[in-house]
Amino acid sequence: MSGSGTNLAALLRAIDDDPDFGGRVVVVGSDRADAGGLQLARDAGIPTVVEELSAHADRPTWEQALTDGVAAHAPEAIVLAGFMKIVTATFLSRWPSRVLNTHPSILPAFPGAHAVRDALAYGVKVTGSTVHVVDEQVDHGPIIAQRAIAVAQGETEDEVHERIKAIEHELFPACVRALCRGELAIENRHVVWAGEQP
Ligand code: GRF
Repeated sequence: MSGSGTNLAALLRAIDDDPDFGGRVVVVGSDRADAGGLQLARDAGIPTVVEELSAHADRPTWEQALTDGVAAHAPEAIVLAGFMKIVTATFLSRWPSRVLNTHPSILPAFPGAHAVRDALAYGVKVTGSTVHVVDEQVDHGPIIAQRAIAVAQGETEDEVHERIKAIEHELFPACVRALCRGELAIENRHVVWAGEQP
């Protein structure tokens, strides 16, 4: 988690509200000491791991430190809830097919760090939210769920992003729940839901 942490907040709420969620948050990792979600984690009594890139000699060293710091808490899966750095095999190989990401576009359209801005600049009439399994290419892995919204004429980037976030706050916890409950299978990059697909 790198930013304001609203997706983390939504996940924590969903877990609190559902005794059958099938998992809990055992650690919150961030690449920024000022990330909003860290306070949420502390308030909830969840351990935090902060590794800022600037504190390390290079990217591989940073990623190894973050990986080891998170792994020390023995999570069985990882959710990238607004985590804005690219992770490589160093991180992903510890949790094969068990790292999830939420991305604010309908992938494969508009991968990258400015998805909402790029979609609006392109002039799309529809955009939305994608939850996917993370692989070694950016915003590329098997798609778990997607939900679209129509873009209204004249809407700003912030307005569209807020509406996408409102979707993410439902869709992402639903996908994490399914992962925790063992209800997702991946067959040739197709994600098959055992339960009802949101
Ligand atoms: C989300 O829209 C996520 O898809 C994107 O960054 C945003 C993070 O929001 N990568 P928050 O920090 O969870 O509020």
